[in-house]
Amino acid sequence: MNARPNSVDLSVQLGRLQLPNPILVASGTFGYAREMEHIVDLSRLGGVIPKTITREPRQGNSPWRTVETTGGLLNSIGLDNDGLDAFVEHHLPYLADMPCPLIVSVAGRTHDEFVSMVTILEKFSGIDAIELNVSCPNVSHGIDFASDAEMCGRLISDIRHACSFPILAKLTPNVTNISKIAEAAAAAGADAICVINTLLGMVVNWRMRRPMLGNGMGGLSGPAIKPVALRCVYQVAKAVDIPVVGIGGIASIDDAMEFFVAGATAVQIGTANYYDPTVSVKIVEALPDALQEVGAKKMQEVVGSLRLEGSLGDARDSSATMLADG
Ligand SMILES: Cc1cc2nc3c(=O)[nH]c(=O)nc-3n(C[C@H](O)[C@H](O)[C@H](O)COP(=O)(O)O)c2cc1C
Repeated sequence: MNARPNSVDLSVQLGRLQLPNPILVASGTFGYAREMEHIVDLSRLGGVIPKTITREPRQGNSPWRTVETTGGLLNSIGLDNDGLDAFVEHHLPYLADMPCPLIVSVAGRTHDEFVSMVTILEKFSGIDAIELNVSCPNVSHGIDFASDAEMCGRLISDIRHACSFPILAKLTPNVTNISKIAEAAAAAGADAICVINTLLGMVVNWRMRRPMLGNGMGGLSGPAIKPVALRCVYQVAKAVDIPVVGIGGIASIDDAMEFFVAGATAVQIGTANYYDPTVSVKIVEALPDALQEVGAKKMQEVVGSLRLEGSLGDARDSSATMLADG
């Protein structure tokens, strides 16, 4: 076994937010972290993003709320949560004390509700940043703020003025031009852009002539969406000069490295937590060797290092050709 290279610096900076390493767990896939403390060494994570909270409690959508698809998972949870007051009372004390950064995910029904939620959260200590979930496909108002560049920019600008938290804007892939939305978010003062939330999809049972999900449609996640997520990370990283956080189908060190070279400064692990809650720590542990393999001593050396001159299919050397053929 190789000795771990200890000269590798895994820390990353997302605007005003510093993380010990770039591997985060994604909102909605890691509960409120306490559920995981006996399985996962939370001190090894770059950060935790608990389930999105809303101002008022939400029951979520009717069942079924998840269904497996080829290489993926379709969910229509519908932001089931106990609301901001219950979060502050029951979850925040534990989360604020975690041995890793805490990024609280919020979703407001309106512009003003978003702003007021962040203002309330600012009264509490232990929150390192806010992720704005402007991209949930499973609630009626869910993606409004991330499908209209002007609305998105105005929201982020007002939140930036209303609080001192670093702001991560989590965008939806369910738009024609994600770069335009990301540009508006960056111009309005977001510290980083997170891409992607789930892709709107559908599964039907043709014999019953019914959709499988109670809500009809849902959000697709898991390995099936990785190429779409990589494309979004690449496009957004080219369009803005703030850091990008990659999300979508990441389940291994190779997946994570693909996102880093495509332009992600950090990544979030989502659906993979459902079948291996320790996967994020495994990726953190594998990261120094992966960086060393390409001769990098810190994360910044690999971020956005994708070379476009010639795809692997164009490569003339035999090993690359074998890869392309295989
Ligand atoms: C069951 C489930 C619930 C989710 N809930 C949330 C949520 O509350 N807030 C949010 O921003 N994203 C939520 N997501 C989206 C994930 O955070 C992530 O963006 C998406 O699943 C893509 O990453 P993945 O392919 O690694 O899962 C949820 C995903 C799943 C599968």
